[in-house]
Amino acid sequence: MADLRVRALRSREDLEGCVRIQREVWGHADLDITPVHHFRISVETGAILLGAFAGRTLIGYVYSFPAVLDGILCQHSHHLAVLPEFRRRGLGLALKRAQRREALRRGYRLVTWTFDPMKAPNANLNLHALGAVGRKYLDDFYGPTPALVLAPGVPTDRLLVEWKIATKRVRDRMAGLCPEYNPARMEKAVEAKPRGTYPAIVPGRPDLRRTEPRLLVELPPDIRELAAVPGLVGRWQAAVRSALKSYFRAGYRLDDFIAGERSFYVLIKQRASPTAA
Ligand SMILES: CC(C)(COP(=O)(O)OP(=O)(O)OC[C@H]1O[C@@H](n2cnc3c(N)ncnc32)[C@H](O)[C@@H]1OP(=O)(O)O)[C@@H](O)C(=O)NCCC(=O)NCCS
Repeated sequence: MADLRVRALRSREDLEGCVRIQREVWGHADLDITPVHHFRISVETGAILLGAFAGRTLIGYVYSFPAVLDGILCQHSHHLAVLPEFRRRGLGLALKRAQRREALRRGYRLVTWTFDPMKAPNANLNLHALGAVGRKYLDDFYGPTPALVLAPGVPTDRLLVEWKIATKRVRDRMAGLCPEYNPARMEKAVEAKPRGTYPAIVPGRPDLRRTEPRLLVELPPDIRELAAVPGLVGRWQAAVRSALKSYFRAGYRLDDFIAGERSFYVLIKQRASPTAA
């Protein structure tokens, strides 16, 4: 976007803008909103809060705070949001780039965050465009928070991803250098059943015994459409959950995402232990 500006957010007006965006983007109830006073103190004590502006209007922001994962000091990124009318113009990426720059400037090498593993657009942004990797699956992590559930009774599962911001992998992704995969030639641990037209696509039974170094786990491209079919979101979540947890235990990590008419997580077996970089 031509008149895009990204800058640090500090003033009361800036922070009220973050509250407004949370309401618009997530539709949170008051109880679930991160309030002005929380942003205020966390920015004062090491959080990174950056906003994207069109003219003088805040249209998106990214927010992370100091955290520790497996003994490593990192920034945990808790919010990334762009107003719906400004999406698909590179703003989400611009905010993450700015977050990375600022985290590197402060001496961090790791940024973490969680996302809903059923959301293909977010998986594509996180694992493909940004080059984060995933090896931790968190069952029903936030409990039944109404604004976070995908469909009635579906647990709020999350994937924890690690963005190793000083690595060549991430520098390459930031430069638009991404690996290409041919899903037709790769083995699948979860795959949609061939019959059934969209949105009523149904997951096949997960195959948890594969040993190939690279495996795919299929994901519906738009989980929101599946919510129209009772029980279907839950079936997909259960299939993806069991495959990812099983292959994480076997030493694989989530390394990439293939977005398209059919979408897939790419799991890659790590040479050493599952905790290796
Ligand atoms: C996620 C979000 C911040 C992305 O913002 P955005 O400004 O639209 O993102 P960008 O235009 O910079 O897109 C960056 C990349 O993300 C991926 N992406 C974003 N939206 C996508 C979609 N609908 N389908 C597939 N990939 C998508 C693509 O890789 C895209 O790169 P490309 O356009 O070169 O293919 C925005 O959709 C949003 O606010 N969503 C609701 C809040 C949310 O889910 N936040 C958590 C994010 S983990």
